[in-house]
Amino acid sequence: MNHGPVHPGEPPIINNADEPDRRGVLKFFSIVLGGIAAAAAGVPVLGYFFGPVTRMLRDKWVDIGAIDEFPTGQTRIVDFENPVRRPWDGVSGKSAAYVRRTGPGEFKVFAINCTHLGCPVSWFPQSGLFLCPCHGGVYYADGERASGPPPRGLYEYAARIEKGRLQILTGHLPTLNDPPSIATEKRA
Ligand code: FES
Repeated sequence: MNHGPVHPGEPPIINNADEPDRRGVLKFFSIVLGGIAAAAAGVPVLGYFFGPVTRMLRDKWVDIGAIDEFPTGQTRIVDFENPVRRPWDGVSGKSAAYVRRTGPGEFKVFAINCTHLGCPVSWFPQSGLFLCPCHGGVYYADGERASGPPPRGLYEYAARIEKGRLQILTGHLPTLNDPPSIATEKRA
């Protein structure tokens, strides 16, 4: 920035020849920083839309027992190893599900987690209800919501029969983004 000759009583003459360069640099940096901020804000949005898809891609079929272990009309709890686990997960790498046999080759397998805030629900055969100990959520034997704060019925695993054994598709913890129920797949 150059200052021209100043005559008494006149305003100084300012030469702005380098002003466009400075404006260009500032504009460039504001565009770059704006782009970085927009990208940072967009990552959670992309995760929201694509997270369920990427989680489901890691799911695997897990054996949870011979079908003969599940009498028709009864609900039994089973433990299984989560296929998506790290060596240091220890017992937290295990999970559980409720299996209800509804017919000769028909099964419903419910996630143990309450659909309100995820507490493990308990099955009470005397009343034919699943009860959540945290806030009193209640579900019917078919997994449908009966009462309390849960927004929907229990999450249901996809299930299939392979060579007389029951398998479920698991890996990610079910959430409200998951479909309410997935039909049982019969292979044998
Ligand atoms: S976590 Fe089950 S009712 Fe709240």
